[in-house]
Amino acid sequence: MHPAQTRKFGRVDLDVTAFGFGTAPVGNIFREIDEQTSDAMYQTAWDAGVRFYDTAPMYGHGLAELRTGQSLRWKDRDEYVLSSKVGRLLKPAARGSIDFAPWVNAAPFTSHFDYSYDGTMRSVEDSLQRMALERMDICFIHDIDVFTRGKDQPEVFAHAMDGCYKALDKLRSEGVVKAIGVGVNEWEVCYEALKLRDFDCFLLAGRYTLLEQGSLNDFLPLCEARGAAVVVGGGFNSGILATGAKPGAKYNYSPAPQAIMDKVAKIESVCADHSVPLPAAALQFVIAHPAIPSFIAGTRTVDQLKQNLAWFSHPIPAEFWADLKAKGLLREDAPVPA
Ligand SMILES: NC(=O)c1ccc[n+]([C@@H]2O[C@H](COP(=O)([O-])OP(=O)(O)OC[C@H]3O[C@@H](n4cnc5c(N)ncnc54)[C@H](OP(=O)(O)O)[C@@H]3O)[C@@H](O)[C@H]2O)c1
Repeated sequence: MHPAQTRKFGRVDLDVTAFGFGTAPVGNIFREIDEQTSDAMYQTAWDAGVRFYDTAPMYGHGLAELRTGQSLRWKDRDEYVLSSKVGRLLKPAARGSIDFAPWVNAAPFTSHFDYSYDGTMRSVEDSLQRMALERMDICFIHDIDVFTRGKDQPEVFAHAMDGCYKALDKLRSEGVVKAIGVGVNEWEVCYEALKLRDFDCFLLAGRYTLLEQGSLNDFLPLCEARGAAVVVGGGFNSGILATGAKPGAKYNYSPAPQAIMDKVAKIESVCADHSVPLPAAALQFVIAHPAIPSFIAGTRTVDQLKQNLAWFSHPIPAEFWADLKAKGLLREDAPVPA
């Protein structure tokens, strides 16, 4: 599939490109990305026809939104789709007083969780001011999962389903945003949210990839039934599906455990048998699912981005997918590219 191909965003009157630009890296996660490289990545994506950009106040304490606004500000606003998130408010502070980890040399704001109605309204307004853009099309409630919130998750989830949901539902009914959803690292949280509230979409990070397909059990079928769109972030599982199982490979934003390294090595061996680059398979697998219109890829360099754009339409023989399934490396019921 061509990265610029547009696809319907679930039940919403919105089309997104199959390849989306993820902005966590330009928030300087783990390492700094200079302004020139950041600008060049947005421009490269734009020139390739990418028209879906995902950002969040959290990424670099506002830095990713600042860079997104700077790069998109003078583009025709009707030509692209923008998503951002709520759940954290940023406040100006002296750089030296801020613990930026895992971000590096981020923007001079502290970040505070806030899932209240007022906090959500303010977060949307703040994001638009930071980006100097007139609107965001999609708004996700960010990080209400156990991965991020640990033992506080049940309380945080309940709070968000009240405060954030009411605010976003109001903004949707007024036409301020077109779609509202939840952006997390666990499909179970998305599933609970969809059973409870009228969400249009989800950003599911790392939980529907070439490496793991647990979300096929309950969540993705419910999305299909309800017309909810799922965009996949962390589709390389934060690195290992792009780099392969080599020393230092990342899984869930940490060094990959041995069991993951072993499984990826087995997938790589099937890739080698069919002359398929692992990242090409990772990219193309995800968007074969009918509920998933877009793969939001994070990249650190222009070269990585260009590679990913090329891998998106790299030819992959049908036998490759059959072989992965036969070897028990991919679920039998997982849709694969035609
Ligand atoms: N809760 C949420 O809503 C949530 C959570 C996660 C992600 N997201 C969204 O999804 C986007 C994508 O996720 P992600 O960036 O976290 O993870 P990802 O796409 O799984 O992995 C991105 C990382 O993979 C490596 N990579 C990518 N292309 C490569 C290539 N061609 N060659 C070698 N390495 C390559 C880079 O690692 P290095 O940096 O180490 O080079 C890059 O930073 C995010 O930017 C964000 O917009 C949302």
